[in-house]
Amino acid sequence: MDIQTIMDKYLSRLPQGIATRVFNTIKDIPFVKKTIQKELDTMMAELEGSLKPYKDKVQSFAALPEKGLGKNDVISLMEDIHEKEASSWEDGYVSGAVYHGDPDHIEFLNKIYGFNSQSNPLHSDIWPSATKFESEIVSMTATMLGANKTDDDICGVVSSGGTESILLAMKTYRDRALKEKKITRPEMIVPVTAHAAFDKAAQYFNIKIIHIPVGPDCRADVKATKKAMTKNTIVIVGSSPCFPHGVIDPIAELSELARKKKIGFHTDACLGGFVVPWAEKLGYNIPTVDFRLPGVTSISADTHKYGYAAKGTSVILYRGTELRRYQYFTITDWPGGLYFSPTFAGSRPGALSAACWAAMVSIGEKGYMDATKKIIGTASIIKEGINQISELKILGDPLWVIAFASDQLNIYQVMDQMGQKGWSLNGLHKPACVHICVTLRHTRAGVAERFIEDLKASVEFVKANPDEKGEMAPVYGMAATIPFRGLVEDMMEKYIDLLYKVE
Ligand SMILES: Cc1ncc(COP(=O)(O)O)c(C=O)c1O
Repeated sequence: MDIQTIMDKYLSRLPQGIATRVFNTIKDIPFVKKTIQKELDTMMAELEGSLKPYKDKVQSFAALPEKGLGKNDVISLMEDIHEKEASSWEDGYVSGAVYHGDPDHIEFLNKIYGFNSQSNPLHSDIWPSATKFESEIVSMTATMLGANKTDDDICGVVSSGGTESILLAMKTYRDRALKEKKITRPEMIVPVTAHAAFDKAAQYFNIKIIHIPVGPDCRADVKATKKAMTKNTIVIVGSSPCFPHGVIDPIAELSELARKKKIGFHTDACLGGFVVPWAEKLGYNIPTVDFRLPGVTSISADTHKYGYAAKGTSVILYRGTELRRYQYFTITDWPGGLYFSPTFAGSRPGALSAACWAAMVSIGEKGYMDATKKIIGTASIIKEGINQISELKILGDPLWVIAFASDQLNIYQVMDQMGQKGWSLNGLHKPACVHICVTLRHTRAGVAERFIEDLKASVEFVKANPDEKGEMAPVYGMAATIPFRGLVEDMMEKYIDLLYKVE
């Protein structure tokens, strides 16, 4: 009997607390231990195969080569690898990940990177251009998100990505609450669908995280938020939209709760920052989520997603320079001299900021509008197609990140079948579903139609072969249903170990 069967047959029917207790009691019985270990070993071996496709095919280095390789040899090795990896995302088979990806856009960004590869914003005296680029990236993003519709000074910094922007904001609220309100046991209220970066922030900065549920429409529950507020609450969070189901939380209502209590409200627009404002301008029925709402005190918006910059930049914006100051680090008596930095890193890649600036000014408002129109148009075709498959249902009312589930079929088996056809979709749980995050790669002719055709065929296959387990379905199935999370955590840690194993 495998773990999944034990799970389905026995433990998953029990309440989680009891199931965990039962598991903890039986897990050391030799037979159970052996079964679990065997199962995990099989899963890890399968994952290892897919994670290390270059094993025995491309030269590997556990230590520096004694004599350096020829530059041309390194370039040709890179060309080989690029060719193998690019086709999946270039041809629009991947959910999210590459948001633009047109060859001429990539070539343009690479050229800008080339001019600036030595630039480091830490040395603003040597590279004043980095300061110019970053201040303008922040200002352009702020203007797009309502800075010119409020009397407050909207400011911010450039960070390395969505997670860093979120971590910075949560640290900022923690430090402000300690200084201004003497809150020593800070709490943050976060919808369950908000990005995992908020849990990471809670862990890193010792902030208690209170998860609030979402309704049947997948949007954060305002009443539950109000109920969860205490004198230690320092910030409330909402997503525009959330990563799992692509729906926008009731930001107006949530941010009002925060404003009335004079605490922070963070709109996580990492995913939607460069789509939602343009969708609104295009006339889609979109609620206000940005600085036009007086309660919104910070926004994260990722330039390296729908801002179409190269990977490695995001913007964190604040209402007021006083709030931003809590993010800064300064030290006056370090023997290395007077030192300060606005974000977590010290030295930073100025070339990425230059490429980000170049992407933004070359695309311009019209470019972002056109891109948004294409993305939402393509998403509509995909949504219509999914709605025609009676075994599937779309969760919530998304714009361009579309999550679908099934009451009749194992949705992870459907995802596996899509994988067989070359698609790389995101498997999600609680509830079990799969999503496709539509990017410009999917807006090319025929891609949306191919997606629907393949999805229909995958559903038919799973209907006809419900016992065919597939490659990833057991892993997702187990991770979703297993009542003892310690085992899943252990699996994930083993997976990370594997990432750093040289083969
Ligand atoms: C809503 C949302 N917030 C935050 C993040 C984190 O961004 P990053 O992966 O750049 O750290 C993501 C990533 O997909 C996201 O979708």
